[in-house]
Amino acid sequence: MQQHGCILWFTGLSGAGKSTLSEAVARELRAQGVAVEVLDGDEVRENLSKGLSFSKEDRDTNVRRIAFVANLLAKHGVIAITAAISPYRAIRAEARAKSQAPFIEVFVDAPLAVVEARDVKGLYKKARAGEIPVFTGISDPYEAPLAPEVTVKTGEESIAQSTSKVLEHLRHAGLLGSV
Ligand code: ADX
Repeated sequence: MQQHGCILWFTGLSGAGKSTLSEAVARELRAQGVAVEVLDGDEVRENLSKGLSFSKEDRDTNVRRIAFVANLLAKHGVIAITAAISPYRAIRAEARAKSQAPFIEVFVDAPLAVVEARDVKGLYKKARAGEIPVFTGISDPYEAPLAPEVTVKTGEESIAQSTSKVLEHLRHAGLLGSV
């Protein structure tokens, strides 16, 4: 069975559900025997991007590193799932342009009001209090995708519904088929 690799690029605000959704999608794919790897923003920043700040320059560097690794995986037949905020359109476009495998942008679209109310990590509160001076969505930009392949509304949909949308897209794009 030969598998076609691709990059599944999740983008969205902190707390929008990128990690949860990427893990849910990965679990489903693994259950189907698909080779999949998740490059999660928080984990990447603990390892591959340790020491990088949240300045625009460092975020771009972070995203470039993620894109580089994702591309290596995808070209060898793995479904590489990335889950970083990746707030800038231009750098996401660069990742897409450099990808040697299909690039599927998934906009994890949850309104700021929703993610801020949830505030799982307590970071929005800190950002509002000025303890984190440049925080995405509060005092730093988030540039929403203009033409994502998939949009999931995590404020309205269940994780199962959002997961199905992503898997459905992969199926329609012929990326889950065997040859
Ligand atoms: S990215 O902008 O470089 O793509 P990444 O996904 O790696 O971001 O990391 C985002 C995570 O770092 C957030 O979910 C949050 O937990 C934490 N974080 C800490 N400081 C900031 C900040 N200033 N802006 C956004 N996220 C931050």
